[in-house]
Amino acid sequence: MNFKVNLFVIFSFLTIFVIADKDNAIVLDILYETYCENSKIFITKTLYPAYKNKFIDFIKIKFNPFGKANMTILDNQTMVFCEHGEKECYGNKVHACVLASTTPLNKQFEFINCTLSKVNISSSVYPTSVCANESNIDIVQIEKCANGTEGTSLLLNYGRDAKSLFEGNTTANSALTLPSISVNSKFSVNESALLVNNFDSSLCELLLVNSTEEIKACKLPSAASTTLPVLPVVIISFIFSKLYQ
Ligand SMILES: *[C@@H]1O[C@H](CO)[C@@H](O)[C@H](O)[C@H]1NC(C)=O
Ligand SMILES: *[C@@H]1O[C@H](CO)[C@@H](O)[C@H](O)[C@H]1NC(C)=O
Ligand SMILES: *[C@@H]1O[C@H](CO)[C@@H](O)[C@H](O)[C@H]1NC(C)=O
Ligand SMILES: *[C@@H]1O[C@H](CO)[C@@H](O)[C@H](O)[C@H]1NC(C)=O
Ligand SMILES: *[C@@H]1O[C@H](CO)[C@@H](O)[C@H](O)[C@H]1NC(C)=O
Ligand SMILES: *[C@@H]1O[C@H](CO)[C@@H](O)[C@H](O)[C@H]1NC(C)=O
Ligand SMILES: *[C@@H]1O[C@H](CO)[C@@H](O)[C@H](O)[C@H]1NC(C)=O
Ligand SMILES: *[C@@H]1O[C@H](CO)[C@@H](O)[C@H](O)[C@H]1NC(C)=O
Ligand SMILES: *[C@@H]1O[C@H](CO)[C@@H](O)[C@H](O)[C@H]1NC(C)=O
Repeated sequence: MNFKVNLFVIFSFLTIFVIADKDNAIVLDILYETYCENSKIFITKTLYPAYKNKFIDFIKIKFNPFGKANMTILDNQTMVFCEHGEKECYGNKVHACVLASTTPLNKQFEFINCTLSKVNISSSVYPTSVCANESNIDIVQIEKCANGTEGTSLLLNYGRDAKSLFEGNTTANSALTLPSISVNSKFSVNESALLVNNFDSSLCELLLVNSTEEIKACKLPSAASTTLPVLPVVIISFIFSKLYQ
């Protein structure tokens, strides 16, 4: 009698372990730029709240602030040209420097959310200082990086990443819409558009591809069926426990 009960308990624990496995986190690379209105709206209004409130355990986010910039070799030097001009290249470098020197992701998010919310295309000042202050980021170090060769080289690295992740060929990425999202290092224009336009439900569809677990954030208010996958395991556990009674 005791044995039977113990076996049932053990199987139930195993079930919980399988359910709680979070190794399947989906990696999202977000290509954006600092003066792009759609990037701002998506990151501040959709991605950040969704990440913070629902999907923190299920996705890994990697920001790429290269956007639709391009790289051209002039006088033996690789130059970066940004969609919204020099100002934007500076903002992109500030982000590149913060991303390179700041962990965890939450703090990167805070700074990115703050600067995207506060940036003003008519102003000559990028809101680095007020946002660095809010997030406890060393402003002096970030400006030194963004104004020097380090910022340029970090941005060029993002440019190379953007080329390989979002294009797969040598065409300039001027055809991309921003933001663009690649999923587990694979980019499809359609999948990216679905995520940008309908993030929560598109992400849930992706999460459910490989997940055996119940994802609370993906549960519809009325859907009682999400617990169904657990049922067979519980029944098998019960049958096993019967066999050994
Ligand atoms: C580019 O570099 C090569 C080799 O270092 C040099 O011979 C050439 O003069 C440089 N060209 C320019 C435009 O600086
Ligand atoms: C590079 O980007 C700038 C700014 O968006 C644009 O004017 C230029 O045509 C682009 N050059 C190439 C080769 O795509
Ligand atoms: C993002 O920044 C805006 C403006 O500063 C702020 O109102 C909002 O609460 C921030 N979002 C989150 C999720 O903290
Ligand atoms: C943006 O900057 C310009 C120039 O400094 C200023 O006149 C304007 O009020 C600013 N806009 C906002 C929303 O702060
Ligand atoms: C940064 O924050 C400190 C307090 O945390 C405040 O005294 C200071 O004025 C702030 N500086 C800026 C530039 O906002
Ligand atoms: C870096 O450049 C920005 C914009 O050009 C300027 O406002 C800032 O004072 C510079 N900071 C440093 C530490 O050189
Ligand atoms: C290269 O990238 C461009 C822009 O994303 C795309 O339109 C084109 O189909 C791609 N070509 C190949 C051969 O993948
Ligand atoms: C992408 O979407 C377009 C328009 O909705 C459709 O015609 C096309 O077949 C889709 N491409 C792929 C690869 O699914
Ligand atoms: C599902 O898992 C496979 C194998 O690990 C992986 O290649 C694929 O990217 C995953 N798909 C999603 C949407 O997570």
